[in-house]
Amino acid sequence: MLSYQHAYHAGNAADVHKHTILAQLLARLTEKAKPLTYMETHAGRGIYDLSNTEAEKTGEARNGIVRLLERNGLADGHPYLRAIEITRRGFGPTSYPGSPMIARTLLRPDDQIHLMELHPQEHAALKRVLRAPNVHIHRRDGYEGVLAIAPPTPRRGMVLIDPSYEIKDEYEDVAAFLPRLHRKWAEAVIMLWYPILPACRHETMAATIERAGLKGFLRHEIRFAETTSERGIQGSGLIFANLPHGFDSVTRAYAWP
Ligand SMILES: C[S@@+](CC[C@H](N)C(=O)[O-])C[C@H]1O[C@@H](n2cnc3c(N)ncnc32)[C@H](O)[C@@H]1O
Repeated sequence: MLSYQHAYHAGNAADVHKHTILAQLLARLTEKAKPLTYMETHAGRGIYDLSNTEAEKTGEARNGIVRLLERNGLADGHPYLRAIEITRRGFGPTSYPGSPMIARTLLRPDDQIHLMELHPQEHAALKRVLRAPNVHIHRRDGYEGVLAIAPPTPRRGMVLIDPSYEIKDEYEDVAAFLPRLHRKWAEAVIMLWYPILPACRHETMAATIERAGLKGFLRHEIRFAETTSERGIQGSGLIFANLPHGFDSVTRAYAWP
């Protein structure tokens, strides 16, 4: 079942949380001259247009990236702002970078990027916008694809896990996948995103991952002041493994404007 389309949610408050921290993490990882491998299990289409019908229908970006930029919530030179500016220069003033485009703008030509996307249209869109010799786009199940490549060359690197949680089992799948990936590619920095919903299914998933005793484990959550509906998303969560030394101060400093 692939009914989820990120175009309805691009640039919302959860995306802003995830993408701000992702950009800061990539900036930290590229401080070292050594090349790295970046992988995503669930890539999406790479670039979104916030003026299209899907985005307009939900209006979610207004409480997300639109508000953040209006309130100058990102310091000059912030890597997330850099990624947005580069995307808008190339794709127009209402475009918004998804996680693959953020990685593409912040990583270097020697870094290898592997992106998994199963949906045929999202995969085709991603292939159109992210052409580069170091970008490898796979139409393949993200869990299976990343495990098949891990550990990659270069061995230094990170994985973003960003499922749509369309089916309940996804929480269990992630809880099983993340420790497995950590065992197979011990050096990888891992970043997992999850929604905080009234059913609180993320709690069991997070507890299972925490019990696996991963090196450099960190859980970081924010709650939104406004929710769109009773069943709507109430907050956004991230789980990390192998978090770089001192990066917890970056997540602690995260502030929603
Ligand atoms: C939340 S969106 C990704 C958003 C993207 N990471 C970003 O931040 O811009 C999830 C994507 O995963 C895709 N997807 C769903 N199940 C998948 C699977 N098993 N393997 C790979 N992609 C999958 C969906 O088609 C959707 O485009």
